Amino acid sequence: MELLKPVWRPHDGQREFLLNPAKFKVLACGRRWGKTDACAVQIVHALHKPYPTKHLILGPTADQAGLLFERSVQLLDQLDQQEAPIPKVKRSPYPHLRYGTHTVMARSGHLPRALRGHEATHIVVDEAAYLPESLVTEVAMPMLATTDGALTLISTPHGKNHFWRFFDMGQRGENGVWSRHAPSSESPFVSASFLEIQKQLLSERAFAIEYEAKFMDSAGQVFKNASVQACLVPLLSETNGPYTIGVDWARYGDYTAVAVLSGHRDESALVELVRFQGTTWIDAVRRVADIVERFPHARVLCDATGLGDPVVELLRTTLRSQAVEGLVFTNQTKAELIDGLSWIIDRAALKMTPDPQLLRELEHFEATPTDSGRTRLAARGGYHDDLVVALALAARQLDKNYQARIVLGRPRAFSD
Ligand SMILES: Nc1ncnc2c1ncn2[C@@H]1O[C@H](COP(=O)(O)OP(=O)(O)OP(=O)(O)O)[C@@H](O)[C@H]1O
Ligand SMILES: [Mg+2]
Repeated sequence: MELLKPVWRPHDGQREFLLNPAKFKVLACGRRWGKTDACAVQIVHALHKPYPTKHLILGPTADQAGLLFERSVQLLDQLDQQEAPIPKVKRSPYPHLRYGTHTVMARSGHLPRALRGHEATHIVVDEAAYLPESLVTEVAMPMLATTDGALTLISTPHGKNHFWRFFDMGQRGENGVWSRHAPSSESPFVSASFLEIQKQLLSERAFAIEYEAKFMDSAGQVFKNASVQACLVPLLSETNGPYTIGVDWARYGDYTAVAVLSGHRDESALVELVRFQGTTWIDAVRRVADIVERFPHARVLCDATGLGDPVVELLRTTLRSQAVEGLVFTNQTKAELIDGLSWIIDRAALKMTPDPQLLRELEHFEATPTDSGRTRLAARGGYHDDLVVALALAARQLDKNYQARIVLGRPRAFSD
């Protein structure tokens, strides 16, 4: 690590991770602990080995994988070494760089086919708990088979899923896996006052997961982790409707969220999920209309609570040829709405590629009893629930799967 000292100095936890020689390492740490930074340093260090190395950065989305890639480029630039190769960086069609005989590329987990056949000496999976398990076992691991390469999984926990199983292997010292767990507070770059504010904002459960990096079970959760995980696919198959769209309008300081589903109640796919903030109502309606117009004959259901009603009307006039309905939320309608989504998710009847924001919202959507004896359904405190609500609004409109049957041969008797 001597080489990197002037640019970056690890904290104690990062040092332990970087110095451990295991080929398969798992880091389960709280938000802002410095997971991404530590892996960027791990990559930059390997780029100075005297033999060629090939690194693949995988994330649930291209943006997530891009973060680690950009941090590696930044550190490489800051090194300012004499006689070092000049990094050749390209960001299209996906981020990749060549550094002498070494290469680094960043891909989202949405393209498993594009990755098959490639090999790597090192794969880092950022937010690994949010990726489908098959991507780690069927895509990443085989890429290392011929190179005897290394695998690093980093993430905040997301229930007791595959990421937990790899972590647990490390804790038991099985199969040469090394793992480490740490709360965000271990990092000297995360202030105690920041953590105190988060603690006040979040539910106890959400704080325990996000900042104490605890692998929690499903108690209090509306959408069980195992069910959500069963809905994840690396890639969606071609969809062709019927389309249903849910819109949750922004409240003060909040986001407008739009979810587009294709299919029916027994088999549907999340084809688009968009969230935006900070526009006027007219702009928000225009942006939603632009999305809806791309899906012919789509049915739209919007949150029409409070301010929502005139906005729904505006969308209806903008989209004259498409069905736009509004739903006013009461305790009862919201409970039915969420129940409907949870029914579909529990049956794994909704396929989606991993979107960390949606997965976090689903994870932190809690059913909490209130003082009045009712159950409050919502994301707690600092977590939004706009993506979940938009998804539930889209799901509510899914049809049952009526299949037209053509009966050949003799008509059946009525008594059949
Ligand atoms: N050793 C270090 N020296 C200086 N700054 C650091 C160090 N480690 C992390 N940081 C800084 O702390 C912040 C959080 O780090 P990083 O993004 O790597 O955390 P993370 O655990 O990946 O967080 P998240 O859970 O949000 O993805 C970044 O601004 C990063 O540059
Ligand atoms: Mg990170």
